[in-house]
Amino acid sequence: MNTGSGTTTYSAKQLGRVRDLLARLHAVRRAAQFYPSDHPAVSEGTAELREVIDKFHAEGVDVSVALFEGEVLFGEQSMPQESILFDQLIREITSLGVGSLEISRGYRPEELERAVAILASDTLDVEQHGGIERMASEAGLSYVRLGAVRAFERLEEGEFDAERARESYEGAVELVREIDDIVRRNRAIGGGRIKSVVRGLVDNVVASREAMLELTGLKSHDEYTFYHSANVAILSLALGSAITDDYRFLSSLGVGALLHDLGKMTVDLEILNKPGALTPEEWAEVRNHSVSGARTAARIRGLDKSAIVIILEHHMRYDGSGYPARTPKRPQHLASRIVAVADAYDAMTSRRSYSAARVHDEAMELLVRSAGTALDPALVRLFVSMMGVYPPRSVVRLSDGATAIVLRPNAHDPLRPVVRVIADGDGAMLSEPVEIDLGAGGGPDIVRCLDPADLNIDIDGYVL
Ligand SMILES: [Fe+2]
Repeated sequence: MNTGSGTTTYSAKQLGRVRDLLARLHAVRRAAQFYPSDHPAVSEGTAELREVIDKFHAEGVDVSVALFEGEVLFGEQSMPQESILFDQLIREITSLGVGSLEISRGYRPEELERAVAILASDTLDVEQHGGIERMASEAGLSYVRLGAVRAFERLEEGEFDAERARESYEGAVELVREIDDIVRRNRAIGGGRIKSVVRGLVDNVVASREAMLELTGLKSHDEYTFYHSANVAILSLALGSAITDDYRFLSSLGVGALLHDLGKMTVDLEILNKPGALTPEEWAEVRNHSVSGARTAARIRGLDKSAIVIILEHHMRYDGSGYPARTPKRPQHLASRIVAVADAYDAMTSRRSYSAARVHDEAMELLVRSAGTALDPALVRLFVSMMGVYPPRSVVRLSDGATAIVLRPNAHDPLRPVVRVIADGDGAMLSEPVEIDLGAGGGPDIVRCLDPADLNIDIDGYVL
């Protein structure tokens, strides 16, 4: 996995310099597009860029910029304003296939000149040279690194450790349970443990997204909040890792997703579990959980700032409404938009005191209907294609009348997952359930989803 040069945390003063860095990069790149490399406009532009890079280096930190989906990250910090200001630069560089730019201490000025020349090329040039990484290695870049936008390399079948994945999931549930206890007793939470638990989740989701998604089907009515938090973290990481392999982004996303409902831990349980309508005061208290959660998170030492943004923004809506209100209107952070999709899906498919769980295809349909209003339509599309129409643990009726439980999605055909047949066409339970890969062809089709509550089936007994 490409984790870059590791996590760098920058000071506020250093973050304030990012705008200048990007402005100079933009200027020299433009100059290099119009003039030959020995033209004064290019050499002066490069010298000006070096000036700001050298300030970071003089303070003992490397320069690390990551780009994805139109957003800039500096170190582990997302830069929402710079993402808007330098939208064109980001789009152009990303379209070349560049996902990150790192400049380490000890670089030579010639290296930076060569990197600028690469960044000034057009997409056709890059294609003809066999991609950005090839160009960078041919240019002999070592202290200046241009990283490609790319998907994670998947582990080969069998390398994924199901036991370890399960432990990582249980570890996340346990952590949320502990945090709940700490928050209720008003004690301080440590950031280190949170990061290490999330690191395990990221590694496992990256190693085997499908197998981790299977675990998110675990729901506990009694411990809804804990399981829901772990599920939202895994669903968010699965969606996030389909967009970028930037470890820093995924790590903050995982932390923010796992802690998104931190503020609910201080809301009265009677209000949270109230079956009827809430009074205006109760509703105000519930709505306040994103702000109070972000406040609690801000006090956790060593927590990424973008994780706090996620907690604050997870009930904002794509169309600018939601809570807390944004004045003036500004876009919701990409990571918050991801968590909003994961949160909506997991909440709909869980049974709570006041509502029954929806079957998966119904939940998918509701997600699609919220696309463009509550949720980011591009993310909803990606989520639906990732989960398949029949996610793990769905109970389905097959075209031969048999009943089956979905085990894992089929990457090539969302309509034909791998299932375990548990009852034949006459409804008689099989003593030996049979696993079928519907994607292998020749087998029956899925006709529809069934509500497991109507069937009295112990899904865990068949899936685990
Ligand atoms: Fe929430």
